Amino acid sequence: MARINHRHTAVAALAAVSLLALGACSSGAKAGDTGDAAGGSDGDLISIGFAQVGAESGWRTANTKSIKDTLTKENGFDLKFSDAQQKQENQIQAIRSYIAQGVDVIAFSPVVESGWDAVLQEAKAANIPVILTDRAVDTDDDSLYVSFIGSDFVEEGKRAGEWVSENLGTEPINVVELQGTTGAAPTIDRKKGFEEATKGNSNITVIDSQTGNFTRAEGKQVMESFLQAHDDIDLVFAHNDDMGLGALEAIEAAGKVPGKDIKIVTIDGVKDGMTALSEGKFNYIVECNPLLGPDLADIAKKVVAGETVEKRIVTKDEAFDQEGAKAALPDRQY
Ligand code: AHR
Repeated sequence: MARINHRHTAVAALAAVSLLALGACSSGAKAGDTGDAAGGSDGDLISIGFAQVGAESGWRTANTKSIKDTLTKENGFDLKFSDAQQKQENQIQAIRSYIAQGVDVIAFSPVVESGWDAVLQEAKAANIPVILTDRAVDTDDDSLYVSFIGSDFVEEGKRAGEWVSENLGTEPINVVELQGTTGAAPTIDRKKGFEEATKGNSNITVIDSQTGNFTRAEGKQVMESFLQAHDDIDLVFAHNDDMGLGALEAIEAAGKVPGKDIKIVTIDGVKDGMTALSEGKFNYIVECNPLLGPDLADIAKKVVAGETVEKRIVTKDEAFDQEGAKAALPDRQY
C-alpha cells in the first residue's frame, strides 16, 4: 500500500489513474497557459475551480479554510472558489463556469451523490481533470474523475454504532437518528455503517430517524419534534456535531440533561462538539477530518504534471470519549 506525502492520509486503493487515461492533456497545452504547468520555477499558476457544498457546519468552515489556506498563489495555485449553498444546481452551474473559463483542474465536494454524469462528461470532453474531495459521486463511469480524497463514511458510522453497542447497548435503549442531507454520501454511508454495527444487538432500537440537513438549526428543530413524539429517548445518533449541538439545545430546553438523561453520539470532532464532549454533554465523537487542502494541492499538482495519482485516498480519522476530548482540545486546529 503506497502513501502520499501527508500525515493524515493513507492510500486505500492502488487503482492509479493518469491524466492520459482520462483523455486529458496537461494544462501546459491550453491556450493562454504557457510554461511550467505545475506552477514551478517560471511562476505559472495552476488554475483550479473549487465548487464547495456550502457553509452548513463547523466542519465545512474548517474544510473551506484548509482549501483556501493551501491553494494559494505562493503554493502555485490560482483558486476560484464558489459556495453552492447546499444546492446541486448551484454546484453544476459553478462547474460549468469553470469549464467555460478553461481552468486546469476542477475540484468539488458533491452535495448529493447522484446526478453528476452529464456535467462531468462536459469536463471530460473539455480535457479538464476532476478531483472529488470529501464526498463521492454515484456513477458507473469512474473515468469521470481522477481521484477521490476523503474519509470512509461507512467506517465512521460503524465506529459510532460499535461504541453505542459496547457501552450503552448492554440494556434496552431507544435511539433517534439525526440524518445529514438527504442523498448525500455521508448520510447514506453513516446510516449504513451504524445499522451494520448495531443490527446484531437486540437491545438497540432506532425509534425515529429524520434529516436535520447537517445544520445546527435543523438539528434542533427535528430534535424538538422527536421529544414531542417520544418520551422514551435514550440516545441521539447525529450524523454531525452541528446537529448534535442543536439536539443538545432542544434537550436542555425540554428540561433534560444532555449526556445523562439523553446521550449524544456524533461525527466530526469540531471544537464546539469536542467542547460539549469534554463537558460531558456529548458522550462520543467519531472524527471526520476536514483538513483536505494539502492532499488536494498535492494531487492537483501531480495531475497537471501528467503524473499517476491514486484513485482513492482515505483520510485517517480518530474517535474520542470525554477524556480523549479533554486531551485533544488544547491543540485542536478546528
Ligand atoms: O461531508 C462531510 C460532512 O458534511 C460533515 O460531517 C458535515 O459536518 C458536513 O456538513
